[in-house]
Amino acid sequence: MSRARQIIPYKAKVVEPIALLPYEERVRRIEACGNNLFRLASHDVYIDLVTDSGTGALSAAQMGRMMIGDEAYAGSRSFFEMERQIRETMGYRYTIPTHQGRAAERVLDFVLIKKHMIVPGNSHFDTTKAHIEFAGGRAIDCTIDAGRSSTGYHPFKGDVDLAKLESVIREYGPRHVAYILMTVTCNSGGGQPVSMENIREVRRIADQYGLLVILDAARFAENAWFIKHREPGYATKTIPEIVAEMCSYTDAAIMSAKKDALVPMGGFIAVRDDLLYERLKAPTILFEGFYTYGGMSGADMEALAQGLREVTEEPYLTYRIGQVKRFGELLSAAGVPLVEPLGGHAVFIDARRFFGNVPEDEFPGQLLCVELYKEGGVRAVEVGSVLIGRDPDTGENIRPNLDLCRITIPRRVYTMEHLEYVADVVRTVFEEKGQRMRHGLRFEVEAPGIRHFASTFRYVRGADGGTGDLL
Ligand code: F0G
Repeated sequence: MSRARQIIPYKAKVVEPIALLPYEERVRRIEACGNNLFRLASHDVYIDLVTDSGTGALSAAQMGRMMIGDEAYAGSRSFFEMERQIRETMGYRYTIPTHQGRAAERVLDFVLIKKHMIVPGNSHFDTTKAHIEFAGGRAIDCTIDAGRSSTGYHPFKGDVDLAKLESVIREYGPRHVAYILMTVTCNSGGGQPVSMENIREVRRIADQYGLLVILDAARFAENAWFIKHREPGYATKTIPEIVAEMCSYTDAAIMSAKKDALVPMGGFIAVRDDLLYERLKAPTILFEGFYTYGGMSGADMEALAQGLREVTEEPYLTYRIGQVKRFGELLSAAGVPLVEPLGGHAVFIDARRFFGNVPEDEFPGQLLCVELYKEGGVRAVEVGSVLIGRDPDTGENIRPNLDLCRITIPRRVYTMEHLEYVADVVRTVFEEKGQRMRHGLRFEVEAPGIRHFASTFRYVRGADGGTGDLL
């Protein structure tokens, strides 16, 4: 018998050139961008790990299907194909396409949220939380305590704390709960999965109080893989079976198809209930487009349908999650403090521990992203105090539980050699600056609202040209 080896279930057919700018040029460009990596042009970046959203490689089969996309305004054949595939994969009867995930949130919240309602859930993503607030509601995070810590093993750190969920429902009263949101996997919490048992229990509680459960399904297939490999009783089930069971406990899903539907652009709301479907149509037409295209082209819808088939293939998921794990292990071996266990789509560095001497108010996560770019042309993203922003009621800066630098792995794009390079860049910054930097960044201009995209930063005591103040 031959040895078990890592199997990569695809090869490259088309390539895109990338290049590394010289060090001095990188320093110049990031300074010109106010130390905000969202303001960099992508050609200034060598390895772009800012997100796994819309950055994956399409397959030959997806490209082929795009050629037969039906661009009819109403009742496109490609729409029916996408709806059929979503029904087959996830079990929801009706689909409303949207141009991306947050558009699905906007339409759904417009219909379900009235002023002062709450949406309890597990680590709502930032646009999700913002949309809930925009509609007059409040997102209430009920993630288990283990999910708030970057250390310590728990197989499902994305789980909802059921006691907390129930006490929140009782405190506000079920009439004021718009719906319960289950995010799989939990992006803001480090890419942590949610167990099947937890989803089932949330359903039970929802039934007790007559509430809707909505799935934020952006990374549903990765979540299913974790269930298969970590939850007793699921090892022999197939990924499609696990996905079907996960969805069966929920009433509807909102989906950013840019993640686990393997497309550059797209999203949807999928629902079971006729009445809810009817109510969603009018706002979709207003905000997105007619409800059989909702901001997507026929070609996009074909690619999405094919993407849903490919993403639930086990060899794909095993390689995908294995690649993230191997990359994380390279960093762990160098002593870099990570959120553990490793999540499905990204490696999250605990920046407060990485820069142990940088004050928490000086944005250690953002600082790390800037330093990685300067050292190696790598673009990562802060998921910490810059992103979380201010309390909408008090205007105070919120101090999140974790201040993270997310190194996000696009699907089917980079090889392990690319990631070995990135690991070397992180290791170098860690060894040379990790415990030596004693100051970070402060705002130069704090952009209003969702501030991480447009704000600019300055080094605190950065008189040395931006390399920070070393011990
Ligand atoms: N829900 C989750 C869990 C997400 O991670 C995202 C996007 C969205 C909803 C919104 O979807 O971008 O299609 O509008 N996350 C991206 C990221 C942006 O980089 O993590 P979208």
